[in-house]
Amino acid sequence: MLPTRRSLLTAFLALPTLPVAGRAAAQFLPPTPACGDEHDLTLARTAGPFYKPEAPLRHELAGDAPNGERITLAGYVLDARCRPVADSLVEIWHADETGAYDNDGFRLRGHQMTDERGRWWFATVVPALYPGRTRHYHFRVRRPGAAILTTQLFFPNEPENDRDRLYAPELLLDIRPTADGKFGRFDFVV
Ligand SMILES: [Fe+2]
Repeated sequence: MLPTRRSLLTAFLALPTLPVAGRAAAQFLPPTPACGDEHDLTLARTAGPFYKPEAPLRHELAGDAPNGERITLAGYVLDARCRPVADSLVEIWHADETGAYDNDGFRLRGHQMTDERGRWWFATVVPALYPGRTRHYHFRVRRPGAAILTTQLFFPNEPENDRDRLYAPELLLDIRPTADGKFGRFDFVV
């Protein structure tokens, strides 16, 4: 039987203090760190036309799109030496289950600060495709004192990935199916 999104989030939050970074985090503790030098910094991507400042502070966005497929996204913010960074900004914005962005209000937009162990998570929905793009989330990430990283995260096994010039395999979420949707993991290295 598949785990629930909640049980995977609980397992993630119960990890021992030192994470081992993982874009390859199919298991939560891959054998080798995925970061370690500047080549491993998370790739930047354009913000696109739908960014809107002053998104609210919150973890729970799924209520904005009751018909969407539920997904919980989670990970660490790490520095280039794989150290988790507390009080880092993590901001998300994305299309809804019809492929539309809310440009009037703040549906499916939010931000948070990583906890004392450098962790972030959002409960939201899987975005639909919109013309010209593969499936993606937009993020902005900033550790204290550093410049903002603007990037996008992608889903594995999407037919449109290879036709989207912003796609990169390094920006793939690690997606696991759950009994009530999906769980996606990504560690930002900034
Ligand atoms: Fe977009």
